[in-house]
Amino acid sequence: VVVPKSISVHEEDEDEAEAGKTKVTIFFGTQTGTAEGFAKALAEEVKAKYDKAVIKVVDLDDYAADDDQYEEKLKKETLVFFMVATYGDGEPTDNAARFYKWFTEGEEKGTWLQQLTYGVFGLGNRQYEHFNKIGNVLDEQLSAQGAKRLVPIGLGDDDQCIEDDFAAWRETLWPELDKLLRDEEDVNMVSTPYTASVPEYRVVIHDPSGAALEDKHIAMASGSTAIDIHHPCRANVAARKELHKPDSDRSCIHLEFDISSTGLSYETGDHVGVYAENCDETIEEAGKLLGQPLDLLFSIHLDDEDGTPLRSSLPPPFPGPCTLRTALTRYADLLNPPRKASLVALAAHASEPSEAERLKFLSSPEGKDEYAQWIVGNQRSLLEVMAEFPSARPPLGVFFAAVAPRLQPRYYSISSSPRFASSRIHVTCALVYDRSPTGRIHRGVCSTWMKRAVPLDESNDCSWAPIFVRTSNFKLPTDPSIPIVMVGPGTGFAPFRGFLQERLALKEEGAQLGPALLFFGCRNRRMDFIYEDELNNFVEQGVLSELIIAFSREGPTKEYVQHKMMEKAANLWSLISSGGYFFVCGDAKGMAKDVHRTLHTIVQEQESTEPSKAEAIVKKLQMEGRYLRDVW
Ligand code: 2AM
Repeated sequence: VVVPKSISVHEEDEDEAEAGKTKVTIFFGTQTGTAEGFAKALAEEVKAKYDKAVIKVVDLDDYAADDDQYEEKLKKETLVFFMVATYGDGEPTDNAARFYKWFTEGEEKGTWLQQLTYGVFGLGNRQYEHFNKIGNVLDEQLSAQGAKRLVPIGLGDDDQCIEDDFAAWRETLWPELDKLLRDEEDVNMVSTPYTASVPEYRVVIHDPSGAALEDKHIAMASGSTAIDIHHPCRANVAARKELHKPDSDRSCIHLEFDISSTGLSYETGDHVGVYAENCDETIEEAGKLLGQPLDLLFSIHLDDEDGTPLRSSLPPPFPGPCTLRTALTRYADLLNPPRKASLVALAAHASEPSEAERLKFLSSPEGKDEYAQWIVGNQRSLLEVMAEFPSARPPLGVFFAAVAPRLQPRYYSISSSPRFASSRIHVTCALVYDRSPTGRIHRGVCSTWMKRAVPLDESNDCSWAPIFVRTSNFKLPTDPSIPIVMVGPGTGFAPFRGFLQERLALKEEGAQLGPALLFFGCRNRRMDFIYEDELNNFVEQGVLSELIIAFSREGPTKEYVQHKMMEKAANLWSLISSGGYFFVCGDAKGMAKDVHRTLHTIVQEQESTEPSKAEAIVKKLQMEGRYLRDVW
């Protein structure tokens, strides 16, 4: 599947704004498409309001081919906006990483951006430790480097309704932009309020006898293009097995992708991105709700019949013609709670006035609390919402443009090392399966796909997925004699399995290994003690000096990895303070925060120092790249 890259709102050469016009550049740093959507929505509104503005929406990755060009390009900008998300452990999105590094690190740049006026909207989640770090740092750095802040930064919180945060921030812009972009003669004019119309693709229905066409586009990245998020490669599922023991009522899958003859390579500690498929039950239900047969062959287009572009703020169409089944399988996010923009689009196509009213209310500022409770609080999926509004039957062009967001790839920490398995990528994936507040069984898209995948060792007609590798800096020290301490409960063990495989390979090549501690946690040894035999083997082989396990549901009280860290505080700190590395992998909201606090306590106690000194020591570890986290 070739996932097309975005195109900009305007095709004009950005450097040559027309006479009398003002160039406005809207940058986005996006991982799942939300920041990109906001950038495009902002562009449309600015365009509708101000004749004077020539707007360009720019993927930060595409701004300059080389770091050397950033300076020259930025010096030519006068008015810019940044829509930037913060991910993982307070990191920029992949597409913003290079620019962010260049802009915020390296030598002092002085106040060289005095010609520039800017605004920043950050996308983050308050549940995480580094809430909107990237937006905040950019905002501060732009100001520090001389640029003029047009409005205070907007801090979007995805834990609540980020669309409301964005709408509120956007309202702060207009009075300021009026001053910059409204023509003199317009000053006394009352501007007509902007109402975004519901976007849609043009749909072409194809003759079913052309059904053979359907799989034509499922050609993966070809020899010459690099494999990345936009050009994944097709990888067969070579092996799959259940890791939990029979007593467990949950499931955790070990899955191996075959990457031989794909051109894909990886390093220990990297992540794999997987484009999964919706499961059959979900697709059947969506087909019914749309009132369309699943074998309908169609294609979607961004231009009208004569090739004139429609609205370029839409994501590029997925390749077609394809059947509705394929489109729903691969491209539609059907199980997340719908965003307000989806409700607006549904309302526009509800034939029953009372349904249209209710949908409009839910998406309105007055309906904020009802939206927060009825949709978000109840984890109502898009399909559940559609089922509640049977008269809302959007046509396919609207459904794929405005109702169902694109299904996003899921990322996993690779649980193998290429030194051990050069032609395989191993994944360790906990099944997401629970009952939502409305009583719906919620099945995670990718974990369900993995659970049901048919491996090559069971059938030649095995499952496959488009995949790609995302590099990470979660890496073992280059010198294997340096001590390491790893903390990884549950599937947080994944990258450490790769680390230990790598150490085993190094040892077999004759390398001298330094000490390695692993703090692992699970509920009960009879249920979810995953990779038990392998772990014991790593200890026997001397690749792991000590395996310390916290069983949280065996005794009368909860035992977590951080409790075990306290018990081993002296040993742990002697390894790290003598130059060792400290790695943490797993849940960011609970575990990684608690482990971080525990590390502080250990430093404070072991060094017999005060909290502020302990904090400085931990900060230094992070700066030196000796305290690394792979958290989600
Ligand atoms: P629990 O489910 O019994 O609460 C892997 O998921 C292990 O991590 C489980 O044993 C789980 O325990 C434990 N865990 C849950 N929350 C944690 C936290 N905040 N810190 C450390 N471990 C945690």
